[in-house]
Amino acid sequence: MRIVLHAMPGNESTADRLAQVLAAAGHAAHSSVCTVHRFPDGESLPTVDAEQVNPDSETVLVCTLDKPDTKTVPLLLAAATLRELGARRVGLLAPYLAYMRQDARFAPGQAVSARIYAGMLSQHFDWVLTVDPHLHRIHRLEEIYTARSRALTAAPLLADWIARNVDDPLIIGPDEESAQWAKAVASLAGAPVQVLRKTRLGDRAVRVQLPEFSSWRDYTPVLVDDVISTGRTLIATLEQLRRLGTPAPVCVAVHGLCAGDALPAILAAGAAHVVCSNSVAHNAIPIDLTELLAAGILAMLAAA
Ligand code: R5P
Repeated sequence: MRIVLHAMPGNESTADRLAQVLAAAGHAAHSSVCTVHRFPDGESLPTVDAEQVNPDSETVLVCTLDKPDTKTVPLLLAAATLRELGARRVGLLAPYLAYMRQDARFAPGQAVSARIYAGMLSQHFDWVLTVDPHLHRIHRLEEIYTARSRALTAAPLLADWIARNVDDPLIIGPDEESAQWAKAVASLAGAPVQVLRKTRLGDRAVRVQLPEFSSWRDYTPVLVDDVISTGRTLIATLEQLRRLGTPAPVCVAVHGLCAGDALPAILAAGAAHVVCSNSVAHNAIPIDLTELLAAGILAMLAAA
């Protein structure tokens, strides 16, 4: 089985690394590039590598979906083009899957974007593979994706980094929604865990409540969350910890979206390190997902 990884712009190095890992494991894998021309009026024109499309290959579009509004239209156009040119099956590898946090109508008239976005992707892809999507009120991707879907988890990789780099870690989940990631990482790293309470007052305004902390004062706090967006969740937690005089905390997240000044602001709030998987590009310390993603692709193709 030949696997062709078509990289959307910005995903070329991910596709190259995946092709190398798959080839090293004995699979015929090739990475190619889908270019996107932007017209002056804002429309986009994707061009896929037509020579690499044939019904005997497995076709995988590689596109991490941070900043999804500019990426999604070219991605869907590319998927439809691959199919028109003869691809038998088209899968999507999106290391970060957008819109999962808008999983309910929190005010009258709001879009439940997670569900609608899942419908759009499901129309164009045979399968969707991602890493640690924000599953909270929606418990499984299958609840919203009609395309075959699978969520990989980076928890073992995050736990391994913590176990190798942090003495006496205390894993802290800054809110209830992070509890699933914080608890999984803590258990794999063999570390204690505390989950805090968060109240979100706005996009960049967050209040966090620490529980009674005296017995944890000598541990190194390791804040674990799925997503760093504005960084305000971590910053509010770091501010509370600074008042207690703990050792400098470490921040670990699966997806380092790091909008605007998030990364420098987290460091300025007292984080010793910020560590995120390379599901999206960022300037924090990266944890490589390539082996996990390669195994995930093979599992999706084997089950097809
Ligand atoms: C929300 O529930 C997520 O788990 C993250 O805590 C949140 O998305 C982080 O956002 P920000 O960095 O903007 O505080």
